[in-house]
Amino acid sequence: MTLLETFDPKAFVEAEIKEIRKSLGNEKALVAVSGGVDSTTCAVLTHKAIGENLVCAILDDAFMREGEPERVADALSKPPLSVPTKVINVRELFLQAMKGLRDAEEKRKVFRETFYKVLGETAKKEGCKVLVQGTIRADVVETVGGVKTQHNVLEQMGINPMERYGFKVVEPLVSLFKEQVRMVARHLGLPSEVSERQPFPGPGLSVRVVGEIRRDKLETLKKGTAIVERGFVQHKSSQCFTVIIDNEEVEQPSGTAHIRETVARLLNVPSRNVHVKIFRDKATGVEGGKRRYGEIVGVKVQTMNRGIHQVTVQNLVSLQAKIIAERPVVTRVFYVVRDLAEKKPYVVGVRSVETRDFLTAKVSEIPWTTLDKVAEEIIKECPDVSTVYYDVTPKPPATIEME
Ligand code: XMP
Repeated sequence: MTLLETFDPKAFVEAEIKEIRKSLGNEKALVAVSGGVDSTTCAVLTHKAIGENLVCAILDDAFMREGEPERVADALSKPPLSVPTKVINVRELFLQAMKGLRDAEEKRKVFRETFYKVLGETAKKEGCKVLVQGTIRADVVETVGGVKTQHNVLEQMGINPMERYGFKVVEPLVSLFKEQVRMVARHLGLPSEVSERQPFPGPGLSVRVVGEIRRDKLETLKKGTAIVERGFVQHKSSQCFTVIIDNEEVEQPSGTAHIRETVARLLNVPSRNVHVKIFRDKATGVEGGKRRYGEIVGVKVQTMNRGIHQVTVQNLVSLQAKIIAERPVVTRVFYVVRDLAEKKPYVVGVRSVETRDFLTAKVSEIPWTTLDKVAEEIIKECPDVSTVYYDVTPKPPATIEME
């Protein structure tokens, strides 16, 4: 029998409610919710255990999607969940803290530090000595294993939360896998928009802004994200989203000529119709279970009448494999769906993957009509974007997120 077949969400909930009551007694506790399945399930479960002693908050950290903090607070506060939830606006604080950072791990660490500082202050104000959080098993495994620093992993990394932030941490879901959390969510009666929701990273859109975070860049990313989520809805991907990159290439790149020849050969097109870019900023990938930074390559192939040469996703994935086999410093291959002749400050990447465990993932075979329609809308709505790409790299060698 598999792990999921033997898992009994009802028994889990009953045991955890007892456990939470035992460890919290009459203490007040704070829970921070992002709207994702883990933190929402954690909040509802803890609310069942300690009722009014739970203070539920959403940190509006500037990296949630358009309208999301209000939407999540509303859904939680209303029946059937009825967990009163407040939104705390800390956008400026986060934007200031993240300003100027370019390295993915550094951004993650600064995000974590700011997140817990704010939570520490909120806990103090609310008279809470305990923070309840929805950390799950994968968060701990990936952080300890060196894949990436999850924003919610502290004690397992040797950080003492009481000493550093003034609260004790309780993690009711830490033994569970994502699918088990979804089973608990269904059992607790969470709406399907929550229990079946695509994962959304704790550091939010910050891991989808490649390179430096700027306000205008983040705003454009939010617009693009809404367009892709709407435009891809009928394809039911495991996860789909938008990323944004500064439209800057490495100076004097070596190897683009070689990639051009490879693309021309594999797609059977003249090499003068192939254009290759290597972006200045890098993206994460995985190799042998460890995170690594690598190049992002943008490929454009034109038809004879200067349109975009449309290739099936399957063929683009094969092309990607060949490019990375020949140039292993690459972690991403992007293929142009639409672009403008005029150079604008940003390019956008659209990512859509199919996966069950999120440890490996396939590129979704989205039809060109959808890709093209979404790309056209992004170009129209985002005046600072000149190219829209489709990310044709599976995990591995890429990660699902860019950072
Ligand atoms: P990667 O990018 O590592 O992502 O292939 C695997 C899955 O994890 C999500 N993800 C995160 N979730 N905090 C989270 O709560 C994070 O820091 C984080 N980073 C990635 C990602 O969206 C994907 O579903």
